[in-house]
Amino acid sequence: MQPVRGCATVEHEVVVLGSLPPSSRIHELAPEELEVYRQLEPERLPQHVAIIMDGNGRWAGQRRLQRFFGHQQGAESVQYVVETASRINLPWLTLYAFSVENNLRRPKTEVNFLMRLLKSYLVGNVRRMNDNNVRIAYIGRTGDLPSEVQDTMRWAVEQTARNTGTTLTLALNYGARCEIVNAAQAAIRKILADPASRNLHVEDLLPLLTEESLSRELYTAHMPDPDLVIRTSGEMRVSNFLLWQIAYSEIFVTERFWPDFRGQHLLEAIADYQRRERRYGGLGDGELAPSSVHDEAFVQS
Ligand code: FPP
Repeated sequence: MQPVRGCATVEHEVVVLGSLPPSSRIHELAPEELEVYRQLEPERLPQHVAIIMDGNGRWAGQRRLQRFFGHQQGAESVQYVVETASRINLPWLTLYAFSVENNLRRPKTEVNFLMRLLKSYLVGNVRRMNDNNVRIAYIGRTGDLPSEVQDTMRWAVEQTARNTGTTLTLALNYGARCEIVNAAQAAIRKILADPASRNLHVEDLLPLLTEESLSRELYTAHMPDPDLVIRTSGEMRVSNFLLWQIAYSEIFVTERFWPDFRGQHLLEAIADYQRRERRYGGLGDGELAPSSVHDEAFVQS
């Protein structure tokens, strides 16, 4: 079953992984990962997993360390998880690395540290990204980040552009409300710029702004919506992350802090996802639509 958008049913491309291709890298999984992977149905892997990485500060606090150590260890977790994702051939992995709110509300010293960490993460891991056929991309107001960070980000994109495996998208200086407002503005601008719109009354123009025309202007226009959102550290919030795109995503929350999160835990979240029934607001497989007799009884009651 696929989600229905507004009045029109949107056909989503369904990529069936099928039996393992000759290029399968499953044998590269660690033994504890392989044990979880064996419980999965490879043909029903999510196409897009998005992760809210949380708990770096608490992880450090538990060890009486400064928050910076938590972020440093969190960057290690990023690489572990990316490599497991690439080994199971996950097409899209999106990580919430730095929100607009982080940028505005955290002390400057922490923001500066996160920027330096991002740079050193990219410089230090591009080679491993290439070894793992991982392509790097970004979403967010990246133009507002320090220029030397932007230079490194561009370099990493160029270095990994030819890879065809997992696309790792880092959400940086990202905020979903801002993304949606910008997308609506862009969609309206296009409608108004279209010569066919000239002389149209506002009531005729409004229906031209649709879920599809707005979606086309989101950072994520080229990606499928996330099937699964994972949040670490037990918080039950979505924190302004991909609000439009996660309308029908399954959500998995783990108590584990991000610096302790590994590929095995990604696979466990996917196993949990595969036990769910996705209904997109419809009925489940086992629930038959009421017969006309029952319908009548329902209407009369
Ligand atoms: C949440 O922990 C995490 C962040 C604000 C930043 C995420 C950054 C990383 C995982 C490391 C660097 C990433 C890359 C891509 C190199 P928190 O500080 O909010 O933790 P707390 O809630 O326990 O205080």
